[in-house]
Amino acid sequence: MKVLNFGSLNIDYFYKVGHFVQKGETQASDMLNIYGGGKGLNQSVALSRAGAEVYHAGVIGTDGAFLKEILEEAGVNTTFTQELQNVRTGHAIIQNDSAGDNCIILYGGANQEVTKELVDDVIKEFGSGDWLVLQNEINEIPYIVDKAHEKGMKIVLNPSPVNNKIFEINLSYIDYFILNEGEGQALAGVQADGSTLINKLGEKFPDAEIVLTLGERGSVYSGKEGVVWQDAYKADVIDTTAAGDTFTGYFMAGRMEGMSVKDALNMASKASALAVTRKGAAMSIPMKDEVIGFKAK
Ligand code: RIB
Repeated sequence: MKVLNFGSLNIDYFYKVGHFVQKGETQASDMLNIYGGGKGLNQSVALSRAGAEVYHAGVIGTDGAFLKEILEEAGVNTTFTQELQNVRTGHAIIQNDSAGDNCIILYGGANQEVTKELVDDVIKEFGSGDWLVLQNEINEIPYIVDKAHEKGMKIVLNPSPVNNKIFEINLSYIDYFILNEGEGQALAGVQADGSTLINKLGEKFPDAEIVLTLGERGSVYSGKEGVVWQDAYKADVIDTTAAGDTFTGYFMAGRMEGMSVKDALNMASKASALAVTRKGAAMSIPMKDEVIGFKAK
């Protein structure tokens, strides 16, 4: 069983600020770090560190070669990571405030240069029993979903960042949704939260398994194993960037290897509690032995 993650690769420009910049304000930042990131790359790293056999498909420019190295160092196969001339690698401008929270401006760049030919070349190497993991930072997602469905792959969608393009996807082909409350509200078309929201999502996508992440309130699953709640573990937050990606990678790797929902949610919550105590995106994602050895505060 192989995992194909068709997803973004970003250069993250990470600025430490006292507070998020307000309208009309100019704020000095005395710290800039440049990290590897992108929801796709982060989730590939998390899946691989959690023990899955991961293939990352996506597009970078020549300025993003180091992103491929990050994936390879994490044990991810980059055969399907394409490098294009004359296009900039995608990037993110991330403000990290004194509470450790972030806000992000995204520039798609090469992430928006996925072609149907690339999709066809990649998907033909996968089949029934393999998994496809997707976020919403690349183009051609509806086509990727259709092709993967034709091949009998199981499909995981983290619809992040959420926008109207999500509704171009045949969402009935999705086996797993992993999403936060804002994304859940957009997909369900309601302003509900927590248990009301997961019920609405369950009604809308009755054949899917759904995990709703609730930040400090934990997470909740609805699907074949009923409704399962998981508390968040307490952590000294430095930077929340990639905490959601860490959760997605660890949860899905657990499920793919046959873990119960309860155990996979628990492992994913521990992994994301560790990730928020560290700076950066991919580099904040813990190794599996750290997650296993995690002690709750
Ligand atoms: O989820 C975190 C990621 O979102 C960052 O690494 C950034 O690149 C954006 O894609």
